Amino acid sequence: MDSFDFGKDQEVLVGLDTPDDAAVYRLDSGKLLVQTVDFFTPIVNDPYLFGQIAAANALSDIYAMGGRPLIALNIVAFPCKLDFSLLTEILRGGKEKIEEGGAFIIGGHSVDDDEPKYGLAVTGEVEANKLTTIDQAQPGDKLVLTKPLGLGVLATALKADFLTEEDIEEAITNATFLNKGAAEAGARVGVKAVTDITGFGLLGHLYEMAKASKVGAEISLKEVPYYEKAVEFIDSGITPAGLHDNRRFLEGKVEIDSGLNETLVDLLFDPQTSGGLLIAVPENKLSQLLEFLKGQSPVAKVVGQVVAGDSKIRVRA
Ligand code: CO
Ligand code: CO
Repeated sequence: MDSFDFGKDQEVLVGLDTPDDAAVYRLDSGKLLVQTVDFFTPIVNDPYLFGQIAAANALSDIYAMGGRPLIALNIVAFPCKLDFSLLTEILRGGKEKIEEGGAFIIGGHSVDDDEPKYGLAVTGEVEANKLTTIDQAQPGDKLVLTKPLGLGVLATALKADFLTEEDIEEAITNATFLNKGAAEAGARVGVKAVTDITGFGLLGHLYEMAKASKVGAEISLKEVPYYEKAVEFIDSGITPAGLHDNRRFLEGKVEIDSGLNETLVDLLFDPQTSGGLLIAVPENKLSQLLEFLKGQSPVAKVVGQVVAGDSKIRVRA
């Protein structure tokens, strides 16, 4: 073995070989650096809110690792033909959220593009004993979700002009809500396995957690929080393509009990933007975690549990 490569591998604690939310690198001082990047096209019309959501989403991968964000770089694609005041608003929203997270925007890069895109590369740090990863869920752990599902469906309906931003104010506000407090609550009780719910939906991210942790999991459909309005749109066929992609990807990996409400099952596959944390918590720490989560997350719901078994996911009533 090449000793140089070996040395390098030792410092990359979390890298390409696990589906974690961010990479983790050990510095000479022993401190752990957490690094992530995320950007996407607007999911709301208001540029300021879009900036806020994109930044909250980018920070979320740092929080999912138990980290504290330090610095961030803007990533911008913007059509030169559009009014530049829109870009100013996007960046204002992003800056505000990064600063709310206690970090600083120190630069960035922009390109001319047909469709606007915005996001950030975020660098953070985490103490070794506070690092939370996706591969440490244990049978018996309860699964706590900190934001409702359905934003993907609502954003699709918004794009098609079936509703306005005012109609889904709660969902948008929740998307701008930082997962900082939820991650801190997890750290206070010493949880080990955390991920955030984004593009792969609740079941997609849960599957990644189960697979990496070599465990199974059960979701109790009736406990899963969601936006009422999303139900109407699923029933009238307004769903994001990602929902169907997620369903296809998880075919054969998720067992769905018969007789369940199909619309609500669909929501479990709905891709989220800046979704909540999914925290696996040992049962004896659950009530303390729920106590600490009060006021720190839009919701805090026990949606299922980790069981023995090799990455088998079951959805029950
Ligand atoms: Co993530
Ligand atoms: Co991400």
